[in-house]
Amino acid sequence: MKTKRPKASAPPILLTNIGQLVTLRGGAGPRRGRDLGELNIVEDAAVLCAAGKIVSAGTRREAMRDRWLQSRKREVREIDCGGGVVLPGFVDSHTHPVFAAPRLIDFEKRIAGATYEEIASAGGGIGASIAAVRKAPRAALAEIVLSALREMAAQGTTTVEAKSGYALNVEGELKSLEALKVVSASWPGTLVPTLLGAHIVPAEFRDKRGEYLRAICDEMVPTAARRKLAQFVDVFVERGAFTIDEARQVFAAARKWDLGVRAHVCQLTPAQVGPLMEFDPASFDHMDYVGDDELPLLAKSNTVATLLPGALYFLGVTRYPAARKMIDAGVAVALATDYNPGTSPTTNMQMVLSLACTQMKMSPGEAIAAATINGAHALRMAERKGSIEAGKDADFAMFAVRDYREICYWFGSNLCGMAVAGGEVATP
Ligand code: NIG
Ligand code: FE
Repeated sequence: MKTKRPKASAPPILLTNIGQLVTLRGGAGPRRGRDLGELNIVEDAAVLCAAGKIVSAGTRREAMRDRWLQSRKREVREIDCGGGVVLPGFVDSHTHPVFAAPRLIDFEKRIAGATYEEIASAGGGIGASIAAVRKAPRAALAEIVLSALREMAAQGTTTVEAKSGYALNVEGELKSLEALKVVSASWPGTLVPTLLGAHIVPAEFRDKRGEYLRAICDEMVPTAARRKLAQFVDVFVERGAFTIDEARQVFAAARKWDLGVRAHVCQLTPAQVGPLMEFDPASFDHMDYVGDDELPLLAKSNTVATLLPGALYFLGVTRYPAARKMIDAGVAVALATDYNPGTSPTTNMQMVLSLACTQMKMSPGEAIAAATINGAHALRMAERKGSIEAGKDADFAMFAVRDYREICYWFGSNLCGMAVAGGEVATP
């Protein structure tokens, strides 16, 4: 699917009076090892944008000398950033926003001691979200997604990967993807749709999982591809969901239809990811239980490990993924919210950064790079997203702080004052 391009008509803007411009410029491929924390900050900076793209980014003095700016000063809308910090808009590369209701019963059961898997096998979990999504009209789902996206933009997120996965039949999965398409026309940020028909096997197929897999591979994937409703296909590889071998079948269908692939892996139990590598997955997500032996393979691949600490926080699990080990082994690490009703009901990337620092011992610089440039790589969109460099999309998040590290430090509040997406102000 072609994602929406910034509107060519977006008027020129000059972001100025930026105390710290966190550019993340430079470097080929995702950030790894020591380079992850290299933010390339410009102090007292300005950024000029036209037609939804960045024209130049540098010091304020350089910007003022720019000939193009001097000749068109009247047309340019100036945005005074008040001496604050400007980042590339967050790239939230893993979300499940197409659901109809929170799962409050699961929440209470977990507080009382039940585990995620126990709740799922007692009729809660993903299965509990299905009936309402199957019933909901497309427009109602679109409304729900739009309100989450607005919340995300208000918190500095301008690119969002969004999965289907709560209908788990052909009609409902396509309806969920259509809802995403409807929404993408009215949200200024960039939405990247993913088909997650392989979330779990729905109850009516419990004794005929082969049939459900065929519905995914022969109906959902081809239709989503033909109708340009998805860019990626995702599979939940886990005990109680799908096996590696089943994931390979789904990935083969995606490849046939020229769709990218990604997977939820090692969330609750370890798995060997080697057999999936021939499909060049854009990302493996969760990775809470990934074994040390898998790391060299990942380090030499372009597959990003997307860590989702919000899910652990919400499930009350204290064993966070070994981010330090992964980074030190050269694995490209990204951070995302995993926004969903079962394991991570948050739209706030700033909270995720805080968790990455305090629970996974990532430095604030590493966390910011993982939530921007490496998120862009996890979506294979780094030529447009994730850093502030001439030619990339004019996507920014402005924070009312003096030092970028404060974004990770003041947890639980929203420090983002304004977001710009494709050269348009995306916050109310
Ligand atoms: O990423 N693990 C699979 N999917 C979601 C949870 C979905 C749910 O519980 O509703 C996740 O954590
Ligand atoms: Fe997920």
